[in-house]
Amino acid sequence: MSLDENLGKEASWPDAWSALYDQIDVDRQPHISFYSALVGRKTTSILDLGCGTGSITVKIAQSMAPGGRVTGVDLAPKMIEIAQQRAPEHEWLLGDICDPKVEGQFDLIVIMFHTLQMLLEDRQLHQAFSSISALLAPEGRFAFDIYQPNEAWLAAVDPAPVVAREYTDASGERIEVLESNGEYSRQSKILSGEWRLRHKQTGRMLALEPIVQRVRQFYPSDIEAAAAQSGMTIYARFGELDLSPLTAKSKRQVYICKKA
Ligand SMILES: C[S@@+](CC[C@H](N)C(=O)[O-])C[C@H]1O[C@@H](n2cnc3c(N)ncnc32)[C@H](O)[C@@H]1O
Repeated sequence: MSLDENLGKEASWPDAWSALYDQIDVDRQPHISFYSALVGRKTTSILDLGCGTGSITVKIAQSMAPGGRVTGVDLAPKMIEIAQQRAPEHEWLLGDICDPKVEGQFDLIVIMFHTLQMLLEDRQLHQAFSSISALLAPEGRFAFDIYQPNEAWLAAVDPAPVVAREYTDASGERIEVLESNGEYSRQSKILSGEWRLRHKQTGRMLALEPIVQRVRQFYPSDIEAAAAQSGMTIYARFGELDLSPLTAKSKRQVYICKKA
């Protein structure tokens, strides 16, 4: 297997975790509001890269006039299967953000919820931006949100297990998402850690292989370089999905790009 194929497979979500994704997921109303506002009367096509189960894709597509084209692309087969079941009227494709095999051009291309950070190397980021630039309609927009690197927080990452969040499963039981083996490499700018699931009441682990998460930290300068080399320009940037300005203290970076 080539390095490219290997990196892709690692980023993809295993079936068992994909099946639980919507239960584990956090509140996505801020994402739905921000991305839906980018869907205008003239938007006739949306491409969601790294679409997961399509739960957000489907919501933002509701702001588009009927008859438009909606396409979601993800590396994980189970994610695509769930999206297909959710909304068979849309197009769901297995594929890589770096080189999505889709026909035509799109009025709006989105990569939501720090999914762009799953591209671990600069060359993948640059390849993705070049592909997106080629897929953007002349007046199209490309929008994405990622976390802003927080040096102090990253320096304090340690391997001890922590409960990252909780959710209620289908049978009404509280489940904890346990993160452990956290590690940050300043050299590769990759934050990694493992996720496991635990019954809150009994402390018993769920019989599920842990998922290894690796996310790359991108600085504004990394994004500016990728946009410039791909022939896109950043025409808006924010520090939150509520359109707060981007400052050194912002938790997120939210960008809207156009063809230069
Ligand atoms: C954190 S989930 C977010 C899913 C969705 N964007 C959302 O907001 O709910 C990240 C998704 O990106 C997918 N993914 C990771 N790397 C990818 C790549 N190179 N190409 C396509 N999908 C990728 C994973 O399989 C997973 O479904």
